[in-house]
Amino acid sequence: MTNDKNQKTFTLKNDETGQEFTLPVLEGTCGPPVIDIRKLYAETGHFTFDPSFTATGSCKSRLTFIDGEKGILMHRGYTIEELAEKSSFLEVAYLLLNGDLPTKPEFDKFQTNITYHTMVHEQINYFFRGFRRDAHPMAVMCGVVGGLSAFYHDSLDIWDPEQREISAHRLIAKIPTLAAMTYKYTMGQPFMYPRNDLSFSENFLYMCFGMPPEPFKLNPILADAMDKILILHADHEQNASTSTVRLAGSSQANPFACVASGIASLWGPSHGGANQAVLEMLDQIGHKDNIPEYLEKAKDKDDPFRLMGFGHRVYKNFDPRAGVLKKACHDVLEDLGIDDPRLELAMELERIALEDPYFVDRKLFPNVDFYSGIILKAMGFPTSMFTVLFAVARTVGWVSQWKEMIEEPALRIGRPRQLYTGPDQRPYVPIDKRK
Ligand code: SDX
Repeated sequence: MTNDKNQKTFTLKNDETGQEFTLPVLEGTCGPPVIDIRKLYAETGHFTFDPSFTATGSCKSRLTFIDGEKGILMHRGYTIEELAEKSSFLEVAYLLLNGDLPTKPEFDKFQTNITYHTMVHEQINYFFRGFRRDAHPMAVMCGVVGGLSAFYHDSLDIWDPEQREISAHRLIAKIPTLAAMTYKYTMGQPFMYPRNDLSFSENFLYMCFGMPPEPFKLNPILADAMDKILILHADHEQNASTSTVRLAGSSQANPFACVASGIASLWGPSHGGANQAVLEMLDQIGHKDNIPEYLEKAKDKDDPFRLMGFGHRVYKNFDPRAGVLKKACHDVLEDLGIDDPRLELAMELERIALEDPYFVDRKLFPNVDFYSGIILKAMGFPTSMFTVLFAVARTVGWVSQWKEMIEEPALRIGRPRQLYTGPDQRPYVPIDKRK
């Protein structure tokens, strides 16, 4: 419906009272329009009900657009395929944070800012000492990143644009350092200090795989693959962990605490933990002859087994990131001369699943996690580190989405409501009177 002011509207009718309610429809640059229900409860006395928010727009955003039906992913209007092929992770970070691709001087200044924030306070080293060496790296990251706000009192005024920018740069720069320290700690190896002469991804690989007694042999193929993987995981609209960061930030919590909440949410196997689960699944399947048995398990509602790395809340077509990673998988393994049987197994699993009506009818395609683990394994990372690497990349998205939210006029604390199905009011019964 369109009313006389060319404002598109949606009209609801209460069948009981016959009363009609007109709600404005808002339209974005692309994607589905939204029904603005901000006045719904005041005007109708009703809430909406959408427990996993699959049909709910939680915010306006200019960062990332996803078309799940067409398999499109864009950051500030640039497709993920073009960015993965032509850009760098740090340039994508600038794009997400600031809205446009940087000029050379802008990029150089940004790169210098990030580089000179990569070190962490020496006291943070002692945080690690409290963890067991065999703690899951994501547990360590939750703890250490949560403690970061204890070190940066000078950049916690979220209303000061300069302090917001410093916090953003500190998080983007320090999370890789903490991730590498987490890896070194689990390996029982000494921490490697960041090097200012290396690029973002080169430095990250150096801090992970460098060893004090000998010079680090940088492999440009691995550095390029790392950078591509980070680009592909940088941001993804209002996914579970980003929504967690936004909700935490809506209470005006500091950005370090908000990113720590995002790390906790990302850890789940339905979300960022899936990349680790894919490798474990491939090792469980073991051989392509076992694929049919496991596909039957994945279809069996009584069996908890799911095809990890398959399906997506939004993509009901190929996840465009999976396509880029599948190609990168081949390139990296071939360049490194690695013959990982898991790649052949994954491709055979994908081929058979995509011919199976169960997966085709439910539009279950490989997602970003299906191939990423095979590359990360080839680079030398243990599966337990895979979600940490996802967090290194997604910190850019979390920080950019947090910054966008704080800069929105009239920030309000997020406060969903509910449909109450518990007991109606009843009197308290003393314990000696209870049956
Ligand atoms: C990420 O949101 C994001 O953007 C996330 C992410 C990002 O960049 O931030 O893209 C990163 O989290 C990718 C997803 C990683 N997770 C996995 O790979 C775990 C395996 N996938 C499933 O858990 C599942 O597909 C989800 C959680 C990803 C999506 O769940 P949905 O949208 O709630 O899917 P659904 O439950 O509505 O599925 C519809 C049907 C169901 O069967 P029916 O009830 O219709 O009979 O498909 C089935 C599901 O049982 N199904 C699967 C399946 N995924 C869904 N069956 C077998 N194996 C699967 N993987």
